[in-house]
Amino acid sequence: METTAPTPSGTEPWEGWAGHHATARALVEQLTLAEAVSLVSAPMGIGPDAPADAVGSAAHTPGVERLGIPGWDESDASLGVTNPMGARGPDDDATAFPSGPALAATFDPDLARQVGEAVGAEAHAHGVAVQLAGGMNLVRDPRGGRVFEYLSEDVLLSGVLAGASVAGIQSRGVAATLKHFALNPSETGRVVVSSDLSEPALRESDLLAFQIAHERGRPRAVMPGYNLVNGVYASESHHLLTQVLKGDWGFGGFVMSDWGATHSTVHAAVAGLDRQSGHGLDTRHFFGADLLAAVESGRVPRERLDDMVTRILTALASVGALGERRRPRALDLAPHAALAARVAAGSVVLLRNTDHVLPLAGTGRLLVVGAHADTGVISGGGSSTVTPPGTVTDGGSQIAQMELPRAFHAPAPLDALRERWDGEVSWLDGADVPAAVAAAGSADTVVVVAEKWSTEGQDSPDLSLGDGQDELITALAAANDRLVVVLTVPSAVTMPWLDDVAAVLVAWYGGQAGAGAIADVLTGVAPPAGRLPITFPRSESQLPRPDVLDPAGLASNPGEPRRGGYPRVSYDVEGADVGYRWFERERLDPLFPFGAGLSTTTVEWSQVSVAVEDGAPVATLTLTNTGTRAGVETPQVYVAPPALPDRSATRRLAGWARVALEPGESRTVSIRCDEPRVLSAYDADDPGWTRAAGRYAVRVARDAAARPVLEAEVELPRLRLAP
Ligand code: BGC
Repeated sequence: METTAPTPSGTEPWEGWAGHHATARALVEQLTLAEAVSLVSAPMGIGPDAPADAVGSAAHTPGVERLGIPGWDESDASLGVTNPMGARGPDDDATAFPSGPALAATFDPDLARQVGEAVGAEAHAHGVAVQLAGGMNLVRDPRGGRVFEYLSEDVLLSGVLAGASVAGIQSRGVAATLKHFALNPSETGRVVVSSDLSEPALRESDLLAFQIAHERGRPRAVMPGYNLVNGVYASESHHLLTQVLKGDWGFGGFVMSDWGATHSTVHAAVAGLDRQSGHGLDTRHFFGADLLAAVESGRVPRERLDDMVTRILTALASVGALGERRRPRALDLAPHAALAARVAAGSVVLLRNTDHVLPLAGTGRLLVVGAHADTGVISGGGSSTVTPPGTVTDGGSQIAQMELPRAFHAPAPLDALRERWDGEVSWLDGADVPAAVAAAGSADTVVVVAEKWSTEGQDSPDLSLGDGQDELITALAAANDRLVVVLTVPSAVTMPWLDDVAAVLVAWYGGQAGAGAIADVLTGVAPPAGRLPITFPRSESQLPRPDVLDPAGLASNPGEPRRGGYPRVSYDVEGADVGYRWFERERLDPLFPFGAGLSTTTVEWSQVSVAVEDGAPVATLTLTNTGTRAGVETPQVYVAPPALPDRSATRRLAGWARVALEPGESRTVSIRCDEPRVLSAYDADDPGWTRAAGRYAVRVARDAAARPVLEAEVELPRLRLAP
């Protein structure tokens, strides 16, 4: 019998931490005050302020040659190594991995670890010591502009996957950066908006996800968001940075500000910020001469400065970046391309498949419709966009005087489909709707590759596809009943045409392997294997905050003049009941629930049982592929705590397994629900977690809302855990 837990066994311990700390301390003792201060801020590593030795990335810090501390570079991001504004030339290569929700849709911590390893190896080969990778904010609103960089709406899934990817990056000698800490769910007004949430709910949701990732990945760096939390800038929050992160969780790495998110010298340093990043984007070089003067006058204790530097140097030492100056070198990216393809294929979610229209036979007249289906697969915008050679750009956004492209990753879905199609394949961009409808009428099959762009610095105004695509799909569906919609989207979208189309696939932003994955799943070369990591609502009215902030009235990016004040957004509406938990609490019926995804084979679930072992619920079941195609099944275990006054008793994901099955294959899996904090309440008055004694309802189910395959109750004892 195979045992599966959400925990990857090989989490990276902070090996040799004590030794690296001693190395750092010894160096700090020899630094002059000016040298120490020089290590706690950095200009951008591109543009006019870039130091000569920079590799061309988000930041470069000159070292202290006298003491053998080499300069080092910091690069974005989680989806691959970026080449901001083409600073490293047009031939700079990097693997463009699928988006965060795509990775999360695999429900596979092993894949997250492997992507982390690949990103870490590529960062190292680019000469980078710190990768600004580890984006993991909980998806509280699917319209959030950076959802494509994050993972999911679920605490455990997000924490486990982020922890695995951080451990993977760091195993390749590069520091990873959990971001954006914390409660930074939206982009519009991101530099002025305060995210407000009561302490217990914050601990039980966004902070618990970060805490789990921290424990599993031991990140060397953490980046607070641009936003304010409960009225205080995250980068100046003593509570978040010093009490929670460094205190309760024992974080031993350094806290770096986001670019243009440092607002003071004394206040920020004393609150726990260790480094001012991209200081040219701030109103002052707070951690430069100002900090030096503050230490000299005693307003910032010298011990605090030494702690800042010790943390930075310890992190660098622990990833081997305190030796030679790192230089870019060649790396064979072929294995990473193959990995990107595995993730992209594993992430595709099948949501509708009437009359088994999928997989397509790959014959007959195929019409492909989509504005960029002939160009490439759309990706998200902002600092995280990876642009390997062959990437086509069309428009984009501007953040702090930087032009950031709207990028399409080659190859084009049209070309990938042509390769796998034995018959006539034609393409239309869909701009001329009557022409597309006429062509659809005479095609045997129509595939629409719909796209939705999303970018840092701006939330989506709604959940629609936009650009007339919903109307286009509706018109095409009336002309051809074998219409398949492929959604290349950052997050959840609405589907007003759902009942009229034959099939729907969510392919997210698939990166450089996106087109291949779409073509493989459409033609049955790969099974649709993903499950939704985000609830798809029927409409915006089902969300905790149906209305969005108006971007016209607010500053959203560093360097923009502050306007519109400092609005406060209350997340106490849903509290810790994020995503599917909100839908359950409010008895809302979503369009597609969290965890949903169909298969093109049939899998029988049998001998499903639930027990308690060593104080944790354990579900056991046998899965048998009774169909004729390979498939991937993702049984999920949801547990509801006993109802207590003032406490949420919604069901929450407590464990899952991802099981690949060949036709005829049968496997028995055990799912251990061994993270008690997802079932516990946080007590702010007597800090710590309490899992109440009582009867817990356990559901073994296909998704968060489906009728469970097994529903049982287990008795769990009281458990008290440290904050
Ligand atoms: C983003 C960060 C990123 C930084 C450096 C900021 O705009 O919010 O996530 O790491 O830029 O490029």
